[in-house]
Amino acid sequence: MVSENEVKTADLIFPLFLLEGKNKSIGIDSMPGISRLSLDLMLKEIGECMELGVQAFDIFPVVEESYKDTMATYSYKSSNFYLQALREIKHQFPEAVIMTDVAMDPYSSDGHDGIVKDGKILNDETLEVLGKMALAQAETGIDIIGPSDMMDGRVGYIREVLDENGFSETSIMSYTAKYASAFYGPFRDALDSAPKWGDKKTYQMDPANKREALIEAELDMQEGADFLMVKPALAYLDVIHLLKDNSDLPIAAYNVSGEYAMVAAAAEKGWIDKDRAAHEILLSIKRAGADIILTYFAKQFALQMRNNG
Ligand code: PBG
Repeated sequence: MVSENEVKTADLIFPLFLLEGKNKSIGIDSMPGISRLSLDLMLKEIGECMELGVQAFDIFPVVEESYKDTMATYSYKSSNFYLQALREIKHQFPEAVIMTDVAMDPYSSDGHDGIVKDGKILNDETLEVLGKMALAQAETGIDIIGPSDMMDGRVGYIREVLDENGFSETSIMSYTAKYASAFYGPFRDALDSAPKWGDKKTYQMDPANKREALIEAELDMQEGADFLMVKPALAYLDVIHLLKDNSDLPIAAYNVSGEYAMVAAAAEKGWIDKDRAAHEILLSIKRAGADIILTYFAKQFALQMRNNG
C-alpha cells in the first residue's frame, strides 16, 4: 500500500536481435541468456513473450559484412531480410507493438551511425539515408521508429518524410540523450557493428553533461518526437529524472547491453541473484522517472511476475 513505484510487465520493451535465414539461434557470449534468432524462432519467442504479457519489442538486424557499404544502402532495399521479417511479424502479431532501429551502423562498412568522409561524420548528408531507412521500415507496418544515431535534426527530418508519405500515425521514440558509453560493448558484439576506427564521441553525448540533455530534449519535442529516451539508464538516472521533470512526453530509458551483462555474468558465477537484481534495477529506473524501460530482462521479469503472482 505504501509502495511509491511499481514495475509492470506492460512497461517493458524487449530488444531482440534478428538473424537472416531459418532455424538459427546463436548465443551472445557477452550476454548470457540472450540469443540472436532467425525469423521463425523469433516469431515463437514473440508469441511466448506475448503470453507472458510483454507486448512491445525493439528489433535489431544482424547484417552480414557482405551487405555493408559506406552509405548503408542495404538498409532500405526491398530485398532486406529485416524489412521482410518486420512485415511478417506485424502480420502474425498485429497487436504487438513493434519498434525498429534507425541508424546506419548495422549496415555501415565503417561501423558508424553516419556517413564518414575524411575521418569525419557528415551530419546533414546522413539525414537523407535515415529518411529512406525510416520510410522503408514504416512501410512494413511497424509502430515506433527509433532513431538511435544522434545526428542533429533527424527527428524533424524523419517526421517530415513519414508525414509526406502518409505515415503520420507511425510514432518516433527519439534517442534523446544517448551518451558515448562503454556499456554498449556487448550489443556491438551481438551485431558485429563496432566502429572500424575512432569512437562515437562526435555525435553521442559526453557522459559529463547533464544540461545538454535539456537542449536535446527541447529540440526533439519541437521536431515532433512522441517519446524521449535516455540511454544508458543506470549511470544516467539523474538524466531520466531531469527529462521527466521537464517534459510531458512519455520518458523511456534503455537499460543497455552492458548493464545486462554485468548482472548476468555475476549471476552465472553465483555472486548475485539475477531475478532480484533485475527487479531492483528496473525499479530504480522507474523511480528515477521512466515510464517505459527497454530491457533485456523483459522476458525474465515477466516470468518472475507470473510465477510469483
Ligand atoms: C546503434 C545502437 C547502439 C545501441 C542501440 N543502437 C550501440 C551504439 O550506439 O554503438 C546499444 C544498445 C545496447 O547496448 O543494448 N545505433
